[in-house]
Amino acid sequence: MDTVIIREINEANLAKAGETIRGGGIVAFPTETVYGLGASAYDAEAVKKIYRAKGRPSDNPLIVHLSDVSQVEKAAREIPETAQKLFDSFAPGPFTVILKKQPDIDDIVTAGLDTVGVRIPSDPTARAFIKAAGVPIAAPSANISGKPSPTCAEHVLHDMTGRADAIICGGNAKVGVESTIIDCTGEIPTILRPGGITLEDVISVCGKGQLDKHVLSSVSANEQPKCPGMKYKHYAPDADVTVVEGEKSHTERIISDMVQEYKRKGNTVGVLAMSDIDFGADLQISSGKNNKEFAERLFGALRKFDDRGIDVVFAQFCMEDSYGLAVKNRLYKSAGNKIIYTEKK
Ligand code: TXA
Ligand code: MG
Repeated sequence: MDTVIIREINEANLAKAGETIRGGGIVAFPTETVYGLGASAYDAEAVKKIYRAKGRPSDNPLIVHLSDVSQVEKAAREIPETAQKLFDSFAPGPFTVILKKQPDIDDIVTAGLDTVGVRIPSDPTARAFIKAAGVPIAAPSANISGKPSPTCAEHVLHDMTGRADAIICGGNAKVGVESTIIDCTGEIPTILRPGGITLEDVISVCGKGQLDKHVLSSVSANEQPKCPGMKYKHYAPDADVTVVEGEKSHTERIISDMVQEYKRKGNTVGVLAMSDIDFGADLQISSGKNNKEFAERLFGALRKFDDRGIDVVFAQFCMEDSYGLAVKNRLYKSAGNKIIYTEKK
């Protein structure tokens, strides 16, 4: 398939991208969290193309993207008070609300569920593109299934050239991890996936909120998680990742020892480090000075380790702050839950 690459973002080009969507095509586009791969949420055949392009399991539903809060009724048939408060306070922004689905949204979008994830991105290009399309846009992250989500145009060009009808090349994703998913269909708003909007944010506007039990723990074979995406190994780079978590100096000591040991065994070793000491690895990438920067850099770093053919990566996690949960959730998944705690839990 020929992919149209849109490098200049202007009204005429976004109108063309919107036309591609209405004609049943699939278009990759930037958002403030990660890049998405979109199709009309009303068009089952177009949505099937997304699943095929990504190699995504068909029981994993897609999020529906809208340009404005006034459009939510196009996707959802009920807006509970908690959801309204979240939209009033944080939309447009890096979160998704799970609501009861409108029948017009094709079942293939929601993988047969009676609920739908609704998201209004804040990225101006995303909003202009969705507006130009004139229909709700069903979109997962624009990566090949199982690979780290794309946070810049190069990642999308790498994964989706020849697979998408068009790619809109915007800037770097500012948040860097996918949206917070908040289930508002029950009494207490429940975070199914942590992200840029935190539990504290949810509690501050709704007066209540909780984390789903699968936010940090893995899903066992006989469980059916609320968020189907939780059961898949996500964000897995080719490298074998281990998280080293705990007090900074303890994590430094363990990582330094591990780097030497694995190099001795003949592996190429990478470190994703919050400390600025030299760990003696083949490739060391800084995760920044706090978890907000870590989130922004994480997926790009995982891709860089793969580009360089690194076998083994140690990721240092030594700071708990408001973005900590979003970072840890992605790190644990990319490590397939291989975690070394330097202190007793
Ligand atoms: O930031 C984001 O959310 C990005 C950008 C493109 O908007 N999108 C994204 O989509 O991360 P995706 O498909 O990679 O992740 C969507 C997650 C999956 O884990 C899926 O299972 C869950 O959302 N999900 C979608 N609809 C759901 C529903 N009705 N109930 C529960 N979980 C749902
Ligand atoms: Mg994804």
